[in-house]
Amino acid sequence: MSAVVTEARRWARTYPWLGEDPVPTEPCISEDIYHKEVEKVFKKVWLHVGRDNELPEPGCYKLKRLDFASTTVLLIRGKDGEIRAFHNTCSHRGNTVVVPQGEWDNFGQKAAFTCRFHAWTYNDKGELIGAQEETGMPPCFRKSENGLTPINCDTWEGFIFINLDENPPVGLHEYLGEMGNHFSGFPYSEIDHNFTYYTYLNCNWKVGLDAFAEAYHVNTIHAGSFPGTFSTGLQMIKLLGDHRTTAVCFNPPKDAPAVAALAQTKARGSLVNNVRETILPPTLNDEKRDDYAFELSVFFPNWLLHVSEGIWFTHQFWPIGYDRCLWEGKYNVMEPTTNSEKWALEHAMVLQRNAWLEDTATMEGTFFALNSGSKKHMNLHDEEILVRHGYHVLEKYLNTEGP
Ligand code: FES
Ligand SMILES: [Fe+2]
Repeated sequence: MSAVVTEARRWARTYPWLGEDPVPTEPCISEDIYHKEVEKVFKKVWLHVGRDNELPEPGCYKLKRLDFASTTVLLIRGKDGEIRAFHNTCSHRGNTVVVPQGEWDNFGQKAAFTCRFHAWTYNDKGELIGAQEETGMPPCFRKSENGLTPINCDTWEGFIFINLDENPPVGLHEYLGEMGNHFSGFPYSEIDHNFTYYTYLNCNWKVGLDAFAEAYHVNTIHAGSFPGTFSTGLQMIKLLGDHRTTAVCFNPPKDAPAVAALAQTKARGSLVNNVRETILPPTLNDEKRDDYAFELSVFFPNWLLHVSEGIWFTHQFWPIGYDRCLWEGKYNVMEPTTNSEKWALEHAMVLQRNAWLEDTATMEGTFFALNSGSKKHMNLHDEEILVRHGYHVLEKYLNTEGP
């Protein structure tokens, strides 16, 4: 097992252009900055909104509510296999076309999408195919000009992204750039047995995101779920354009409790199970460290993708206001095939749930304290350089000309 190197301030030396000054807290508590983020970031860049296997067949749809933009995205897989995105807004008088049920994402399948107000009907390509008593519409009315309003949509490695800008300056693959190359080739689709947690948090979206973008907290916050398991020191940090990624490594192993040790031998996917042949593409763990645990990454602005042997998981923080956000945590493993594997998966899920509860437990408290205004700056540790990079990129966007 190779030792984790923790040479003092090594990341500041590696990335001197990021500086070492304290980082202002204002972006986390300012309503004015929140509105600028919405206009200059969230309505401009490519945002992850789903996975292609959520829409397995023609007519399958997903509703994704985006509070920051006061819209709901309607994703539809067409009969031609394409996934398209639309504003879920009727061309007649603007009613919601597919009525959401409950507070979170909706899924379903329809042959056609009929607005319940006056029964205007759209097909799988968002085209208006029926308007009730159409002969009563004025001569200037054209069905062909009144489909659902499209949203730019593209996929990468089976992940669905949208861009709310009518004319995005770059396509998805250019936007992802080297980050897309770094994470390409992992068998995401083969590891598709999943569970999701979500909750609404009374905190700024960045307070939540930042808590997942460092390992400096693992010895304290995760003393219950993963005691001494992971190193606080990061390895192989790569700042790739607006995005960032790093490896989190294991501490030297020590004897696990009997139940945990047994579960680790049976699990087909667990954060602490690293016994199989590697399935990682060569870009991940390119130093071939034998203590490699998992990749921790942030796709700007709000999506974290983590991959490891036999598992991948994501976190996403959706802004609702400067003081509120939605957190979604999704965990994907290989489907268990035996009862012992099912039991081991339950063990892994409970462990992960506990860890995520530990993570999310700090967020509202942090925001409440920051919102006092009593601290103008955060004093970041060298191992929190991904957090520093996040504010650096955000500042670049906020300082751009235009709305
Ligand atoms: S608002 Fe949709 S049919 Fe009238
Ligand atoms: Fe954590």
